[in-house]
Amino acid sequence: NEGALWGGRFASGPAEAMAALSKSTHFDWVLAPYDVRASQAHADVLHRAGLLSDADHAEMLRGLRQLADDVASSAFVPAESDEDVHGALERGLIDRVGPEVGGRLRAGRSRNDQVATLFRMWLREASRRVAAGVLDVVGALADQADAHMGAPMPGRTHLQHAQPILLSHHLLAHAHPLLRDVQRLTDLDVRLAVSPYGSGALAGSSLGLDPEAIAADLGFASSSENSIDGTAARDFAAEAAFVFAMIAVDLSRLSEEIITWSTAEFGYVTLADAWSTGSSIMPQKKNPDVAELVRGKTGRLIGNLTGLMATLKAQPLAYNRDLQEDKEPVFDSVAQLELLLPAVTGLVSTLVFHGDRMAELAPAGFTLATDIAEWLVRRGVPFRVAHEAAGGCVRAAEERAVGLDDLTDDELAAVDPHLTPDVREVLTVPGSIASRDAKGGTAEVRVTEQLAGVRETLSSF
Ligand code: ARG
Repeated sequence: NEGALWGGRFASGPAEAMAALSKSTHFDWVLAPYDVRASQAHADVLHRAGLLSDADHAEMLRGLRQLADDVASSAFVPAESDEDVHGALERGLIDRVGPEVGGRLRAGRSRNDQVATLFRMWLREASRRVAAGVLDVVGALADQADAHMGAPMPGRTHLQHAQPILLSHHLLAHAHPLLRDVQRLTDLDVRLAVSPYGSGALAGSSLGLDPEAIAADLGFASSSENSIDGTAARDFAAEAAFVFAMIAVDLSRLSEEIITWSTAEFGYVTLADAWSTGSSIMPQKKNPDVAELVRGKTGRLIGNLTGLMATLKAQPLAYNRDLQEDKEPVFDSVAQLELLLPAVTGLVSTLVFHGDRMAELAPAGFTLATDIAEWLVRRGVPFRVAHEAAGGCVRAAEERAVGLDDLTDDELAAVDPHLTPDVREVLTVPGSIASRDAKGGTAEVRVTEQLAGVRETLSSF
């Protein structure tokens, strides 16, 4: 088996179906640039440990540089006979510098510590790309919040009209979880920044090689404390899969709302042509496919997380081949987010909000009832009594099929003598919104402050 990394103790090569099962080049090839980069660092420590002559070291680095270029230009690609990225690259190196020099690189390392290190390197970069995409969505939400500052809408709990709120307040409520997701990615990097290189197969580095030197060379903060843990642990991958799934879930909740808002019944928003699709049969259709694909793919990202957890759950220490199944779900989650995030940014930044419609619906469903109760509390009425009285107003208004502000002075007084005509001062949507002016509330002063905070957090990343 030409180019295989093992074989000395085998009288024959693997069966065809064995090789097909074992093969991973079709997905682990994305690790090739990281593998070459780590090999350069490994060549340096071999040289420093006196295991590579100056001439061999120079020749090996020349070969690795050429290999890096050839990988980048696709002049070098995996062959049918290559089991994985690591074997393919050793074959590529030997093609370039010959077996005498190329055959020295593998000393003191194993694919087990290699792959764990490369996966972390890949994830550190991928999570920065994902974070940038999430921050773009937050930027789009902040811009829409800015553009509609002061515009009211019905706030909902249980999807039922609850209290009037500002649209900007609601949009920013989607920005905060996404900012926390970016913080999660930043925090994850603390755990990604530990290099298993030098852990060897499981027992650690011999040959006088220095894991800390490789770690520093590759931009890691440190090397693994425990070589068994270094090669066996995949909690970093599961954590990444969780954060990616959480991002999808947060985008999915936003998407679900956009889907609802764009129905004729709600009529809150119109989607831009560029971010919606038509129907092959119904000429009038304009469908919220971006939002639906977000919702749909979120199931897939949750599956990637749970699949990976299931793969890990019963594995004894240290490395087992099961771990080869760790990469595809995580790679897939990143690939899906890289498709979704720019589309969500496009969708959100081009939403056309129908302010009149939302303002008209803001008081519907007696959303000012709480304001009546709180007005009574400010006049010294116990909340239990105030709640009953406000409920009485709702009953009276519902019976006559009018709004709370349409109740006559007599009708109000009949519900509760405390309900004098000046209660009307709180029976307006702007009055209700402005009164919720404690920190975190929907009053415009607070939402404006909040928007500034979101922008500040945005620019801090
Ligand atoms: N391709 C494997 C992986 O992705 C690494 C190879 C380790 N193979 C081995 N027989 N120890 O996990």
